[in-house]
This record gives sequence, structure tokens and C-alpha cells, in this order.
Amino acid sequence: MIYPVLLTLHLFAALIFIGTVFFEVLFLDNIRKQLPARLMLLLEQAIGRRARQLMPWVLLVLFGAGIGMVWQRYLPLLAAPLASAFATLLALKIALAASVLLHFVWAMLLFRQERMTAGWTRLIHASVFSHMIAIVVLAKAMFYLAW
Ligand code: HEM
Repeated sequence: MIYPVLLTLHLFAALIFIGTVFFEVLFLDNIRKQLPARLMLLLEQAIGRRARQLMPWVLLVLFGAGIGMVWQRYLPLLAAPLASAFATLLALKIALAASVLLHFVWAMLLFRQERMTAGWTRLIHASVFSHMIAIVVLAKAMFYLAW
């Protein structure tokens, strides 16, 4: 009965993570043009602080539950990632998730070294946004596509 618990945790963590990325790209990037720069800066600093408190825990649950599900059910399949469509798509999804994690570490490093600029923020947001779309499509396609 552990698998459905892990899947539910994974789904909730994914909702929070994907929701935050979509909010930043679809709302914040557009709102920027409508608000004075000083107000936007304060808003982004406050959102950034909250994200840096919350996101490490969300990522821990997301990756922990994901790894737990693979451990429980898909480890033998992933041993031969090209043997089935499901294994290939799942392996691809996990590779993209690992790349998202690297983006997160990269952003944290830029913040720590006070090198995070508007340009880096836009680039990281756009890249993580595309990763999210691909991950969600793969997470569903792996159950429906076959070749
Ligand atoms: C950015 C990171 C990730 C995101 C946004 C994400 C998102 C998702 C989403 C939306 C689903 C579909 C859940 C559903 O429809 O019920 C899913 C399923 C799944 N994810 Fe992830 N995931 C991420 C990372 C990982 C990692 C790191 C692993 C494993 C190492 C993993 C393993 C799985 C598995 C095995 C499923 C299928 C579960 C099932 O339906 O039985 N995920 N993921």
C-alpha cells in the first residue's frame, strides 16, 4: 500500500512545483511590465525568499517519492531503458527531472554568489518551464504510447 501514498505525495509536490514555475512565467513575467520597477523588485525578493524556504522541501518530497516509486515498481524495467516504450519514456522523464534539479542548484549558487541577474532569471525560468511541459507530457504518455 506504500505505492499509492508515494504517488499521491509525488502528485502534490509536482502540483506545487509546476504551479510555482507556471505562476512565475505566465503571471510574474507579464506583471513586470505593469508595475513600477521598485515595487516589482520588492515583490520578487519576497517571492524569492519564500521559494527558497519552501522549494527544497517540495523537491525533497517530489524526488523522494519519485525514487521510492521506481524502487517499488520500475527498477527492473529501467535496467533495460530501451527495451520498452514505457521504460524509454520514464528514463527520459527522470533525466529531465535530474536536469531540473541541476537548474535549481545552479540558481541557488547564483543567489549565494550574488550573481543572479534578470537575464539569468529569465533564462532559468524559460528552461525549467519547457522541462515542466515535457515532464508532464512524458509522465502521461508513458502509460499510453507504445512502439
Ligand atoms: C521535476 C521533477 C518531477 C516532476 C515535475 C514530476 C511530475 C510527475 C507527474 C505530473 C506525474 C503524473 C502523476 C499522475 O498522473 O498521477 C509523474 C509520475 C511519475 N513520476 Fe514524476 N516527476 C518528477 C520527478 C520524478 C523523479 C525524479 C522520478 C523517479 C526517479 C519520478 C518518477 C515518476 C513515476 C515512476 C511516475 C509514474 C507513477 C504512476 O503513475 O504509477 N518522477 N511525475
